[in-house]
Order: sequence, then C-alpha cells, then structure tokens
Amino acid sequence: MKIVETIQEVRQEIGRARKVGQSVGFIPTMGFLHEGHVSLIKAARKKHDMIIVSIFVNPLQFGPNEDLERYPRDFKRDEQIAKEAGTDLIFYPTVSEMYPEKMPMTIQVTKGVEVLCGASRPGHFDGVATVVMKLLQIVQPDEAFFGQKDAQQLAVIINMVDAFNIPVAINACPTIREEDGLAKSSRNVYLTEEERLEAPFLYKTLKYGANLIHSGNHNRTKIIKELTERLQIGSGKLDYIDVLKYPSLEQAEEISGQIILAVAYHYKNARLIDNYIVEA
Ligand code: PAJ
Repeated sequence: MKIVETIQEVRQEIGRARKVGQSVGFIPTMGFLHEGHVSLIKAARKKHDMIIVSIFVNPLQFGPNEDLERYPRDFKRDEQIAKEAGTDLIFYPTVSEMYPEKMPMTIQVTKGVEVLCGASRPGHFDGVATVVMKLLQIVQPDEAFFGQKDAQQLAVIINMVDAFNIPVAINACPTIREEDGLAKSSRNVYLTEEERLEAPFLYKTLKYGANLIHSGNHNRTKIIKELTERLQIGSGKLDYIDVLKYPSLEQAEEISGQIILAVAYHYKNARLIDNYIVEA
C-alpha cells in the first residue's frame, strides 16, 4: 500500500494503473477509520483493480462552533486498517494541498438541504459537495463508495453527480452497526460510558417508528410526536427527528412510498446521526 500527500502523486499513480487498463474504486473519508469505512473499502475491493482511500478532515464542511479542531485523528491506526481492508493507495493531503488559497468558488447545494442536517448545519453540504467534487476530479474513479449512514449526504452527492454530469458511478453501502445497534461512527469515541450505553436507543426509536409505519400509521406529525416523546428519556439533547420521502427528502403529511426516518442527537461531546429507510 502506498501513501501519497500530493495531487500530482495521486495522478501519477492512477495514470500508471489506467495505462494497464485497471479500474479504480474510490472511498473518500475523514479518517479515524472503523468497520463502516472498512465495509466500503471491501465492497470496492471486490469490484475494482485499484482501491484508493482519501483521508482528509475537510474544514469547509465544519461550522464555526463545530468539532473541526477535535475531530478524532490517528493516521498510523488508519494506515493499518486501510491496508488490512485491501487499500492500494491512501491519499492524505494537507489542507494547503487541497486549498492553497481561499476557494475562488464553491458548490452551493440548492436541493434537499432545507431539512435534517442541512437545516441544523447551514453550509455543511456546500462544504461536502465542494470537497467531494474536488476529490472526484483528482481521482477520477470509475466508482465511488458512500455509506447510507449519511443518507442526506448520499442524496446530495447523487444529485451533484447528476447535475454536473460527472462520469462516475455512486455505490451506496448499508450502515454498519455495533452489536447493540449503535451506528458505527468516528465520533462515538467522544461518548462517555453512560452515553455509550444509552446511545443505541436512537436506533431502537427509529425501528419503533418503522414498526408504527408498518402497522398502518402514515401520519407524519403523529409519528414525529410519538418518536419525540420516546427520545425524551435520553440524557442528551434532540437536534431533530424527521420522517420524509426518500431520496427526495420532501415532506408529506400522509406518507407513502420509500420513507426515511432520521435522527440527530447531541451528547456532550458528540453529535450522532442515524436513519432507517422503510417502505410505507
Ligand atoms: P466520514 O464520516 O469519514 O465517512 C466516510 C464514508 O464512510 C461516508 O460515505 C460515510 O457515509 C461512510 N460511513 C460512516 N459510518 C458508516 C457506517 N457506520 N456504516 C457504513 N458507512 C459508514 O462522510 C464523510 O466522512 C465526509 O463528509 C466526506 C464524504 C469524506 C467528505 O469530506
């Protein structure tokens, strides 16, 4: 496995692979890798000749009072995990490599961001779209792999690839969870012991909501009310719980078709998100 820090080096490495007809699978990450990331790398490994993982904590997607400075980082550990999962090349750029100057332009996401994390983290998805656009232009993979765990992000990326006719396939991979149901996340390390024990209740609440829908409850307001009440037992603070059409993320009072139940919840040092997709 190779590690490169510059755009020029990534391009050289990929150029070599392309010359001998190899396909390229790409997994963008912010590092502090866990089994969620590993599942994406393995999915890519099965389909492509050259597997590239980027590790870059993207300042553009963090708000002024968010956790950019204390986002967990451990490159040595990431290196080991990426290698074992079957990575061929890690792209590990510095901030100045990715943004040598203030970006002269950025992508403004105008659809699917007035709800969920788009509403509670203004500008977040502009930052995500901008960095993913850059990474896709740098790597130019055949296929890029994203997790369903970040369902709104996935929808934004699919829309971006479509809107800008980017020649890449997007592969959506299922959410990987701990045994007790908590979605794996780099931010889970910032939970206290008590919070960690409590946190699976988020997924349980989403599943409870899915059961409500399956048993014939199709009224959005009522479902949200019931789930909000259930979340009151937590020791943290609810950011949002919502029930929307997926992937359009549109609201409908009487729900039908593919539906996403999505939650964001603040613990002391970690904001957790999770979602569950059901057919109503
Ligand atoms: P990061 O949070 O590191 O996630 C990288 C990829 O791993 C994303 O596609 C995310 O959805 C996926 N992922 C995270 N947890 C997962 C889990 N439990 N199961 C399955 N997949 C999971 O998402 C980002 O980084 C950034 O926003 C990025 C796209 C790299 C742009 O900076």
